[in-house]
Amino acid sequence: MYKNFWYACGQSTSITAKPRKMKMLGQNLVAYRREDGEALVMSDLCIHRGGALSGGWIEDGCLRCPYHGWKFDKDGKCVEIPANGKTKTVPSRARVDAYPTAEKYGFTWVFLGELPEEERPPIPDFPGWDTENFRPVYGEYTWAGNFRRVVENSLDPAHASWVHRNSFGNNQEPEVPDFTVETTQWGSAAEMVLSSPKLKGLWGAKREVRNEIKLYTGYSMPNLTYIHMTLANGKMHNRLYNIAVPIDEETTITHWVILRDFFMSPFFDRDTHRRTMKIFYEDAPVVASQRPELIPEHISGELHIKADALQIAYRKHCQSIEAQGWSIDMDQFRTLEGKRATIIPCPGRRSEEKKNQWVFPEVPMTPGLSSDGPAVAPQNQPTPTAPLAK
Ligand code: FES
Ligand SMILES: [Fe+2]
Repeated sequence: MYKNFWYACGQSTSITAKPRKMKMLGQNLVAYRREDGEALVMSDLCIHRGGALSGGWIEDGCLRCPYHGWKFDKDGKCVEIPANGKTKTVPSRARVDAYPTAEKYGFTWVFLGELPEEERPPIPDFPGWDTENFRPVYGEYTWAGNFRRVVENSLDPAHASWVHRNSFGNNQEPEVPDFTVETTQWGSAAEMVLSSPKLKGLWGAKREVRNEIKLYTGYSMPNLTYIHMTLANGKMHNRLYNIAVPIDEETTITHWVILRDFFMSPFFDRDTHRRTMKIFYEDAPVVASQRPELIPEHISGELHIKADALQIAYRKHCQSIEAQGWSIDMDQFRTLEGKRATIIPCPGRRSEEKKNQWVFPEVPMTPGLSSDGPAVAPQNQPTPTAPLAK
C-alpha cells in the first residue's frame, strides 16, 4: 500500500457534518464536512488516550473527542483541553495528522502523505469524463482481496470470456487479439476489440448485427482503472471508472462510476447499477481465491502471456513507486499493531516549526532506492517495541 497518493473517500455526498469513520491503507481516519463545505480528513486516533475522534461531534467547525472532550481544529491542532481549565495553554504536541482533501468527479479525495502541494502526484485522471453527454451512476463494492489483485482483474482482457461468460464475455471466441500498450508517467492504456455474445434485456433491444465490443482500457496510478466500451456498431457507449481503495492489505473497496450515452432517463439508472454490480459479483470469487494474496514481489514470480501486457505495465509502475520509498512496510507494521500507533505522515509533519511535534511516530516504510542505487533511509521510523510480557 502506497502513501503520497490521492485516494477517493467515496461520493462527495457521503461526507457530511456527521463525523464518519473510514479505514484506508490500514489507518483509522475520520472524515466530516464543515459548514463552509470543506471536507476534512484526519487521523482517527486522539493523541491523549487513543480514543476514536469519529465517535465525537462537530463544534464551531472543530471536532470534539468523545472521551475527555479535547477539541481539534481543521488543521488537526488541539485548541481546547477542558480538564486544564481556561487559563493553561495547550501543548504544541497536541495535534493529530490532518490531510489535504479535494472534490473531483463526484468523489471526495484525500491525499495520504506528507508531500507538499507542488510535489504531489495528480488526482488520477478519468479519461473521457463527460457528464454533459453521458449520464453517471455511482456505486461501491467491497472485495476480499488486495487492491493490486483487484486492479489487475480490471486490466485483464483474457478473463472476460470465462468469468463473465454469462454477461458480456464470449467463451466461444476467447482469443485476445494483439494490442499496443501506451504508457505515460502515471498510467498505461490500450485499445482492443473483443468478441461478445448478443446482449440481453434492455441493451439487447438496441444491439445490431456485429457481436463485438470495442474497448479502451487502462489505469492511472495507484488504483484507478477505466474501461470505455463501444457497443452496437458504435451507437452505444459506456465508460466505467473504478477506484480500488485499500481498506487494509486484504480488503479493498471499489468506488465506481459508470457513464452511459443511451437510455438517458433516470428511470434506467437502476438497470445500469444492477448490470455493473453483476460484473463485480462475477469477479469476486476468483479474486478472493488468488494465492498468494499479494502480487509477487518479482515479475518472474508468475507466468505471463501477451494478453497480460497491461498488468505487466502496472507491475512496473508499482515497482517504480516502491523504489521511491512510498510503500508501507506491512511486516513491520504488523509487529507494532496493538502496541504502538503509527500514522501516515501529513504534510504538516514536514514544516520546520512543526517538526518533532507529533506524538505518534510515522508508519514504517519499505526503503526505496536512491538514483545511485543504495537504499534511502526512511524518516522518523518508530523504534521496535519490547515484546509484551506474558
Ligand atoms: S482520548 Fe481524546 S480527549 Fe482523551
Ligand atoms: Fe472482471
